[in-house]
Formats: sequence, structure tokens, C-alpha cells
Amino acid sequence: MERTLSIIKPDGVGRGLTGEVIKRLENSKMKIIAMKMLKMTEKQAQGFYAVHKERPFFDSLTNFMSSGPVVVMVLEGENVILKYRDLMGATNYKEAEEGTIRRDFATDIEKNVVHGSDSQESSDSEIGYFFNSFEIVN
Ligand code: CMP
Repeated sequence: MERTLSIIKPDGVGRGLTGEVIKRLENSKMKIIAMKMLKMTEKQAQGFYAVHKERPFFDSLTNFMSSGPVVVMVLEGENVILKYRDLMGATNYKEAEEGTIRRDFATDIEKNVVHGSDSQESSDSEIGYFFNSFEIVN
């Protein structure tokens, strides 16, 4: 069993896509074992995306991610890191497969509706960034 962190980004929450994303997760048999809504400060967003701090899009990304509420979730299932990445589609929505969340709803490479951990290592640290053990139900 694996776990992964999912974020519905400010564009997704703001456009009323929270229910749609959750429906797709549930239809794909991914189990939600933790969930909350919060609004990050810019510092918190910088901490979350620290691996990207040298990238040219870092300031814009962390400004966007702290611009409104997000929904953060922990998903559990077999091979869920990869399964959830497949459900999201490529970071650049123009390259995402038909039927993926980003292909269907993203408007921009940054405003791409959802985030998902890209490896076991990042999933462990990303889940720990938002949730303590009492907030994870299993
Ligand atoms: P995410 O999966 O959350 O990981 C890093 C985020 O940076 C990415 O989704 C996008 O929202 C954002 N981003 C903006 N520009 C780029 C880019 N050129 N390449 C990758 N990610 C980008």
C-alpha cells in the first residue's frame, strides 16, 4: 500500500472543481484517508515547493499557491502515486492525455488544478508537511 499527497489548487477550489476532483478520485478507487481545506501563507507555499526554489517560475508559483484556499488530501492504495499522476495528467495540460483532470480543466501550466507527489520520498515529506498522524484515518 502506498500513500500520496493530493492538492486541489486555488484555481480548482475557486472554480468550484473540488467535488469534480473528489468524484474522479473516488471513481478510480483511491481511498481518501485525510482531507482539509486551508490557505497557505506565501512562506508556507515557499516551504512546500522548496525543491523548485531555483526555478524561474518559483515566485509566481508560490504567489499563486498562497492566493486562495486549497484542499489537501492523503490518498491510499496500491501504486497510488503513479495512479494519481495518471489521473491528473501531465504538468503541462497541453501534453496531458484526454480524460485527465488537467487536460479537462487546466488553463495554464501553473494553474493546473491539482498537485500530486512524484515519488515515495516526496510523498512522505509532503504528507508530513500538512498532516500529523492524528489527522490520518486508516
Ligand atoms: P506541480 O505538480 O504542483 O509542481 C510544480 C508546479 O509548478 C507545477 O505543478 C505547476 O503548477 C508549476 N509550474 C509553472 N511553470 C512550470 C514549468 N515551466 N514547469 C513545471 N511546472 C511549472
